[in-house]
Amino acid sequence: MEFLFAPMEGITKYPFRRVHHTFFPGMDAYYMPFIVANQTMSYKKKELQDIDPANNAGIPAIPQVLTNKPDQFLHAVRMLAERGYREVNFNLGCPMATEVSKKKGAGFLSVPDELDRFFDSVFNGIAADSGLSGAQIRISVKTRIGMEDAAESVRLMEIFNRYPVSRLIIHARRRSDFYKGVPDRDTFGTMLAASCHPVSYNGDLFQPEDLRQLQDRFPELDSVMLGRGLIRNPALVREMKGGEPFSEKELADYLAALFEAYREVIREENNVVHKMKELWFYLGDNFPDGKKQLKKIRKAGSTAEYLAAVSELLVI
Ligand SMILES: Cc1cc2nc3c(=O)[nH]c(=O)nc-3n(C[C@H](O)[C@H](O)[C@H](O)COP(=O)(O)O)c2cc1C
Repeated sequence: MEFLFAPMEGITKYPFRRVHHTFFPGMDAYYMPFIVANQTMSYKKKELQDIDPANNAGIPAIPQVLTNKPDQFLHAVRMLAERGYREVNFNLGCPMATEVSKKKGAGFLSVPDELDRFFDSVFNGIAADSGLSGAQIRISVKTRIGMEDAAESVRLMEIFNRYPVSRLIIHARRRSDFYKGVPDRDTFGTMLAASCHPVSYNGDLFQPEDLRQLQDRFPELDSVMLGRGLIRNPALVREMKGGEPFSEKELADYLAALFEAYREVIREENNVVHKMKELWFYLGDNFPDGKKQLKKIRKAGSTAEYLAAVSELLVI
C-alpha cells in the first residue's frame, strides 16, 4: 500500500511537511497545497517559497496546480519541471465558491466538454514540448466524484481514461458535500473498476480500522491519500503499517518542532500561536478528557499562554 499525504491549504505547507517527515517518516508522497496558475503567468511569493526545492530537500513532495486554462497549466508545469519536479497534480476538487464559480477546482467538473478540451490541449502541449516530454513529466489528477451528482462520474471517467494521467486520486465526495457526510464508496468502486489509470482512494481514513475495511472491500487498491486523519494523528500511517501509536512525549516534541518551524517563517508570534491552534482543531480529538485544557489552548492569546496550556494537557 502506498500512503500519500493530502494537500491541505493553510496547513501542509513546507514547514509542516518538513517536521512531519522528520518525526513520522514513511509517507510515500506529500501532495502540496495548490498554487494558482493565472493569466499573469506569475506566482505569489508564498507559493514560490512552498515549491522551492531547497525548502523540500529530502521530502517526496509533489506540487499541485489550480487553473482551467491549458496555457496557464502548461506554464506552471514548465516552471515546476525547471525546479526538478517530475509529477504535477491537477486540482479538480477544490469546493470553494470563489473557485467553483469560475469553473475551477471541483467547478471544472460541471463542464465536462471544456474539461475534455483542456486535457486535450495539455497533453498535446506536453507531447509537443521536447523539454517536458523528454523529462517524462507525469500529470496526476485529484478529483471528486462529481459536482452535484455521483452519476457525473461516468462521463468524467470516460474523459480521464482518454488521456495519459499518471494517477487518479479520488476524493469520494461531490462538491456539494464539501468535507461532510459519508464518502460515497459505491461510486468510488465504480470509478476504480472503470479506470485504466492507477487509482488512489481519499476520504475519511481516520484510524487503522478504516483502512482495513477499505481493503476488504477493494483488495486491488494499492494507494490511499490521507488528510485530516494525519493532522489529528500524525502517526496514523505508522499505525496502519503495524507500528506504535504516538506517545505524548513524541507528540510534544513534534509540536515543539512545528512551533519552531513556524516561528522561522512567521514574523508575528501571535500568528504562530494561531497556526498551532489550527492544528489543535484536529489534534484535540485525541483528548476526550482534556476539555478544560483544550479550551485554554483555544483561548490562548500569547505564546506563553499557549505553551502553558499545552504543557497542562501533555504532562510528560
Ligand atoms: C483545510 C483544508 C485544506 C485543503 N486544501 C486542499 C488543497 O489545497 N488541494 C486539494 O486538492 N485538496 C485540499 N483539501 C482536501 C484534502 O486534500 C482531502 O481531499 C480532504 O480533506 C479529504 O480527505 P481526508 O478525509 O483524509 O481529510 C483540503 C482540505 C481541508 C480540510
